[in-house]
Amino acid sequence: MKIKVAPSILSADFSRLAEEIKKVESAGADLLHIDIMDGHFVPNITIGPVVVKYIRKVTALPLDVHLMIADPGKYMDDFIRAGSDMITVHIETASTAEIAVFKKKLSKAGIKLGVSLNPDTPLSKIKGALKFVDFVLVMSVFPGFSGQKFIPSVLPKIKKLRSMFNGDISVDGGVSDKVAGALIAAGANILAAGSYIFGAKNVKSAIERIRNARRE
Ligand code: DX5
Ligand code: ZN
Repeated sequence: MKIKVAPSILSADFSRLAEEIKKVESAGADLLHIDIMDGHFVPNITIGPVVVKYIRKVTALPLDVHLMIADPGKYMDDFIRAGSDMITVHIETASTAEIAVFKKKLSKAGIKLGVSLNPDTPLSKIKGALKFVDFVLVMSVFPGFSGQKFIPSVLPKIKKLRSMFNGDISVDGGVSDKVAGALIAAGANILAAGSYIFGAKNVKSAIERIRNARRE
């Protein structure tokens, strides 16, 4: 599977957001990871559909919208209209039945659906949802903030998930060149990274180091 790198703009300078996005786009990013937080599901507040709408205007990158909000169904239409290409909902916030409904709606709009799970949520919780989703976003930190430390116990989880799921497996939280090789070996093929990429002196080589971390 092709390895895709998705810089998370949560680590960008929001006063120069368009510039920051262009920087990762020209450095070879495959997707743009956008963290939506509501202060309910996670202890932080970020941005909403209005910002996604304007991001859509400044980049050709597919927008990978990660909803960390208590009631994703309530805002799904807004994120569709804003120009998302991929939308992820957390299994801690949506039932399998709701995920089936999201899938219908998103396929009509040509948008990919992902389900995410927190580090302490077992794979059994997403088992029923796997047939409705295009990808799984495995959290390797507790969602809420950039710059947290990678939790290595997600590695066996990814390995097990890969044995039950053929779609894309994305990993989000504490991803750097140091852990990317192990993540790819475990079966992940989309790597989201915030502080490692936006904090790098050379963004292009940071993205390449993640992409080429595949172990022999
Ligand atoms: C965490 C967010 C992540 C975060 C990644 O709640 O979902 O996307 O921005 O940032 P780093 O790579 O710094 O952990
Ligand atoms: Zn995220």
